[in-house]
Amino acid sequence: MNTQSANQDWLARSQAAVWHPCTQMRHHADAGSPAHLPLVPIARGSGAWLYDFDGKRYLDGISSWWTNLFGHANPRINAALKEQLETLEHVMLAGFTHQPVVELSERLSALTGGVLGHAFYASDGASATEIALKMSFHYWQNSGRPEKTGFLCLAGSYHGETVGALAVTDVAIFKDAYAPLIRAAATVPSPDARQARDGETPTEVARRAAAALEAHLAQHHATIAALIVEPLIQCASGMAMYDPEYLRLARSLCDRYDVHLICDEIAVGCGRTGTFFAHDQADIRPDFICLSKGISGGYLPLSIVLTTDAVYGAFYDDATARGFLHSHSYTGNALACRAALATLDIFREDDVLKQNIDRAQKLWNALAPLAEHPQVTHLRQRGMIIAFDVKSGDPAFSRRFYRSALANEALIRPIGNTVYLMPPYIVGDEEIAHLGQATANALNEALVQ
Ligand SMILES: Cc1ncc(COP(=O)(O)O)c(C=O)c1O
Repeated sequence: MNTQSANQDWLARSQAAVWHPCTQMRHHADAGSPAHLPLVPIARGSGAWLYDFDGKRYLDGISSWWTNLFGHANPRINAALKEQLETLEHVMLAGFTHQPVVELSERLSALTGGVLGHAFYASDGASATEIALKMSFHYWQNSGRPEKTGFLCLAGSYHGETVGALAVTDVAIFKDAYAPLIRAAATVPSPDARQARDGETPTEVARRAAAALEAHLAQHHATIAALIVEPLIQCASGMAMYDPEYLRLARSLCDRYDVHLICDEIAVGCGRTGTFFAHDQADIRPDFICLSKGISGGYLPLSIVLTTDAVYGAFYDDATARGFLHSHSYTGNALACRAALATLDIFREDDVLKQNIDRAQKLWNALAPLAEHPQVTHLRQRGMIIAFDVKSGDPAFSRRFYRSALANEALIRPIGNTVYLMPPYIVGDEEIAHLGQATANALNEALVQ
């Protein structure tokens, strides 16, 4: 008789056959090691909750890597996808088009006030980064400025892990092993508000960082194609939040020095920071917007690069080689686009951004007591993202916290010593209270171990 639980059975099979992302696989194996990272087999999801095969539940406090906006198995997105499945699952987008991709492109353009009216499609976030970098580079080639080949990114930036995207990613753990493969990009200081000197406001930190950007551009602009930023929050390097003033100044510097501005909204787009696009808060428009993660509601791999008439026009020609000859097999997948349309419908029908103002306040109230904790610093929030840093020299802190959070029925996965919540926009009062309690419990348990 098989005495293993259903969970254990799936764990063993997964560990034998699946190579999990961003993981030292050995850390799944040894439950006694401080580095142990439990592998959690999920049987189903419903709303903000995930359920394992033995019936244990976890509140998805980080929206499954920041993708899920309206809960798992959302009935409205499910219904749209079922209808789309019966109509058209996929057709190649080279030489063909279809209703969901056209409607989605039109609606995204409208969300930029028509300023970025051309949408190019891919599947993952890193592919969108690659596309924006290639498009910017090729734009300058097509525009008679072939010397503009360099890219500029912020210290602590994260734009994905494919080889091209790693060039503008400044996180050593993801990058160093592949250094010989990567084309170097220049890095300028981050406007991270935590770097405030005595008495400095976040706006002043932003101005100081912008002054460094200006100095760099003044010297190197002739060879720089684009500056790429994560607007308002550098999520992957520890939820570094900064003042919109930086984006305003970066926009005007990019204009002055003829350098493209790429806003990577892959993590912060789709309402995470309180506005649909994070850069809306600076009252600017970039030359490129990269979108992914939440845009399909967390259902299907979809990424999009939006750009302007000026960029599009530089490729519009009789010569094939002046075109943007980039493609992926699933570019513009009809099911993924339909999931995105259903997601945008929910934003509109439920006035989600407005409702999130109240939800964000409740999230703040749930975590605010932790600001008194002697080892907690920099409790911070922008919209539906809330984070704090933990003073601990324990290299296993994040894993300990993660394991304790799971034991407290919550999926909360710190980045180093930064604990954060980024829940789906359907969490109710009880679920927010649950996240607050699980965070407090996990913090105390992780620190005493
Ligand atoms: C800002 C940003 N850009 C790009 C990416 C890469 O997206 P993906 O993991 O879908 O390749 C991420 C992923 O976390 C991200 O946060």
